[in-house]
Amino acid sequence: MTNAAGSQAAGNADYRRVFGHLPTGVVVVTGRGATGEPLGITIGSFTSISLDPPLAGFFIGRQSRTWPLIAAGAIFCANVLASSQTEWCWRFAKDAVDGSRFDGITAGRSANGSPVLPGVVATVDCTLHATHSVGDHDLIVGSVTDLRVLSDATAMVFFKGKTGDANIAG
Ligand SMILES: Cc1cc2nc3c(=O)[nH]c(=O)nc-3n(C[C@H](O)[C@H](O)[C@H](O)COP(=O)(O)O)c2cc1C
Repeated sequence: MTNAAGSQAAGNADYRRVFGHLPTGVVVVTGRGATGEPLGITIGSFTSISLDPPLAGFFIGRQSRTWPLIAAGAIFCANVLASSQTEWCWRFAKDAVDGSRFDGITAGRSANGSPVLPGVVATVDCTLHATHSVGDHDLIVGSVTDLRVLSDATAMVFFKGKTGDANIAG
């Protein structure tokens, strides 16, 4: 690549390829819209941040259409996907801001009233604590209000663009 735009494109490709080699868990961050409709977004960057006080968070692209709708309610729930839930990993990453991502899913309710997908490994309920602008993403920091393991199922891992299995021997 000789021009600046080409170098940038090559840099972006490298960035995606190299970070694709870093395995992540997968959660669906859920919440509710103004009329109580269920909303959710697939997120790979969810992580623990602080134990005392208990904080957890994730990075959201500033172009996200669903996050502002969830954020308006100031609460959310991270649903940790099981390795068998690949369809939902893709479904909650596809274009849809009208709640249709939940079509055919009978969601439960977390302690703070956010949707819980059936069969998820764990849930982490948060109230919105802080939002920090970082490059082209926002760091969303949640104050953890409830957290629980719901199933012994093996958690999903995302690696090199594919879903897999977090089963660790022993
Ligand atoms: C495995 C996986 C992990 C993802 N992680 C993130 C993430 O951490 N932050 C983010 O902003 N988008 C992430 N995405 C992309 C969003 O799910 C996708 O952009 C979605 O369409 C956003 O929906 P919205 O525009 O309705 O908010 C991820 C997608 C996948 C498949």
